[in-house]
Amino acid sequence: NEIYLNGLSDIRPVLPTDSSRLEALAQEKLGGQAFGYVAGAAGTEATARANRAAFDRWRIVPRMLRDTSKPDLSTTVLGTPMPAPVMLAPVGVLSIVHPEGEIAVAKAAKELGVPMILSTAASRTMEQVAEVAGPRWYQLYWPKDRELAESFLSRAAASGYDALVVTLDTFKLAWRPRDLDTAYLPFLRGIGVQNYFADPVFLRAVGGEITEENRITAILHWVANFGNPTLTWDDLAWLRERWAGPIVLKGVQHVDDARKAVDAGMDGIVVSNHGGRQVDGAVASLDCLPGIADAVGDRVSVLFDSGIRTGADVAKAVALGADAVLIGRQYAYGLGLGGEAGVKHVLRCLLAELELTVSLSGLNRVEDLTRDVLA
Ligand code: FNR
Repeated sequence: NEIYLNGLSDIRPVLPTDSSRLEALAQEKLGGQAFGYVAGAAGTEATARANRAAFDRWRIVPRMLRDTSKPDLSTTVLGTPMPAPVMLAPVGVLSIVHPEGEIAVAKAAKELGVPMILSTAASRTMEQVAEVAGPRWYQLYWPKDRELAESFLSRAAASGYDALVVTLDTFKLAWRPRDLDTAYLPFLRGIGVQNYFADPVFLRAVGGEITEENRITAILHWVANFGNPTLTWDDLAWLRERWAGPIVLKGVQHVDDARKAVDAGMDGIVVSNHGGRQVDGAVASLDCLPGIADAVGDRVSVLFDSGIRTGADVAKAVALGADAVLIGRQYAYGLGLGGEAGVKHVLRCLLAELELTVSLSGLNRVEDLTRDVLA
């Protein structure tokens, strides 16, 4: 209604309302390095394409003449309420696409009540983001240095991040040709991964405050410590002892791994292949969802990401068993094109389209999105 009524005064949306056109505009405006960082995926990007194609194999079967006058898609996941089953995925170093980076994202998300998951690799510190953010979870890249990991956990708890999302699939960065071709690390020289660069344990390891002189040393230390390939399921007990709130494992694709997460006492999982950015040739994330939801959906919260672009995509993922979905690239494009207002635009479009899709399908609530809604 808002868009059409504005149209009467010849005011049109500044950014596209369609995800493909938004991406095309980002490609035009952001420049190769920044756009490549966001849009890129592993290898031939076959998995990124598969993520999208999987949504096309499911179709919603709309039902008619059901009272849909009061749609309400609000829900609560692991104690965090949200206006719709949509959260912001952790996306690292967002200052690459916009100088305000994670601060702009946090403000937009707060205004709409959409929970944000802040990346360990943020270009702003988790404390700076907490000052302006609404509901928030913290994503951990579990570093090699245990003391550094503990420092992240205590900082996150002290600054009000309610749940911990542990990303399992990125203990090292994959073969990502778009980033390799632009050798994108130089970005970090100017922008930095401030969330690390402000950490007392990290700073001690690099010999104090980051200056122009030790900046390269700091980046090298970050690269060396970023991920820990030695981790196994047994290590989760260490984490459980040190984090009082809910723990969610991100990057689960196999039913047996979902079961292991339950056995390890985890509270949730994110069925995700990191937007196709890790294993090229891997299965589409959506194809993993129904089996995992059937196996563990009654015991842990099941979140989903990788490939969500539209309201219909959200509806399909929820119908296939997700309690909520995460969006990644979509809001990063909004940020790059319009800062805080751009993120807000993307979220409002997605939430509006979701509500229309659900309503026009004859449904009112998240609980109504069940598998028999799909063909
Ligand atoms: C990511 N993702 C990610 N995940 C994570 O746990 N920590 C991180 O720092 C990042 N960084 C990151 C940067 C960029 C540019 C992208 C596109 C993605 C993965 C992200 O959380 C999510 O899993 C995917 O983005 C979901 O796929 P879509 O929505 O982008 O298709």
